[in-house]
Amino acid sequence: MDEGRLQHLTTIKSVPKALIDELLISAEEMKKLVRSKGGDNRLQHKVLALAFYEPSTRTNCSFQAAMLRLGGSILAINEETSSVKKGESLEDTIITLACYTDAIILRHPMKGSATAAASLSSKPIINAGDGVGEHPTQALLDLFTIKTEMGYIGTTPGAPPMVVTLLGDLLNGRTVHSLVRVLAQFSGIRLILVSPPELALPNDIIEELKSLGTSLSWQSLEDAIPSTDVLYVTRIQKERFSNKAEYDAVSGSYIVNTELMKNAKSKMIVMHPLPRLQEISTDFDTDPRAAYFRQMENGMYLRMALLDYFLGKK
Ligand code: NCD
Repeated sequence: MDEGRLQHLTTIKSVPKALIDELLISAEEMKKLVRSKGGDNRLQHKVLALAFYEPSTRTNCSFQAAMLRLGGSILAINEETSSVKKGESLEDTIITLACYTDAIILRHPMKGSATAAASLSSKPIINAGDGVGEHPTQALLDLFTIKTEMGYIGTTPGAPPMVVTLLGDLLNGRTVHSLVRVLAQFSGIRLILVSPPELALPNDIIEELKSLGTSLSWQSLEDAIPSTDVLYVTRIQKERFSNKAEYDAVSGSYIVNTELMKNAKSKMIVMHPLPRLQEISTDFDTDPRAAYFRQMENGMYLRMALLDYFLGKK
């Protein structure tokens, strides 16, 4: 195996900038492939395992669709129907799946679960969300969306730095944890963090960003809106709260609607990993700046690029 090739994708920190650039180009090619022919057969006879121990619509379905569009097959297990229900450990489940399949997509409530699985698996483990840890494939599709929507990431000749405002549950939102880390690899990015104080970005991630020289500031949503190029909205992660009162105290504390967006630039985008609850009002959906449904479609193209990287002939 080529020295520089990734064996697993458990954290976005392990993905070098050159590979990010390669995946973004490949995702664009996948988009053209799907739009022209629907797909091809390059992953014929390859089998992808999807082990989802937490609910998922987009990540699960876009990985399945990505594999099917490249001619491969899928094998899906979940907590209810597999031997996990009988008490089998994650470790034994992973060893089992590695016997039957060529790569494993894992979503699990425990932070660090993907790394633990990777240490046992002879086949690539791709982290599809490990509790409050990371969601690296989402960060890649988010980057792909920024690039396709804005035309660049970070700097472009003649333009000031790109302002990315992250709004919501920055404490528990794993998509944000991966996205800020990958954005830190690009020059010309200014991050604005907007959250209820109880849901601020964890300190270890802030320290990590500071050590990389990333520009960070903390503002109110109203103050941040006029300078924002990319507004990344997240849902409050209700399932991570230990009691309902704590959730109720922060629920509904921010909302993006047409009124607020009157103060935003005309060329900017609003993103959201979805699912959305009430944090973006549906009356904004028809605004051209509402990029979240296009972002969700991009997930399939980016995941096709990833599957081609891990399973294709290279
Ligand atoms: C996110 C997740 O599962 O972390 N969803 C997704 O994968 N698109 C975001 C969320 O659940 O809020």
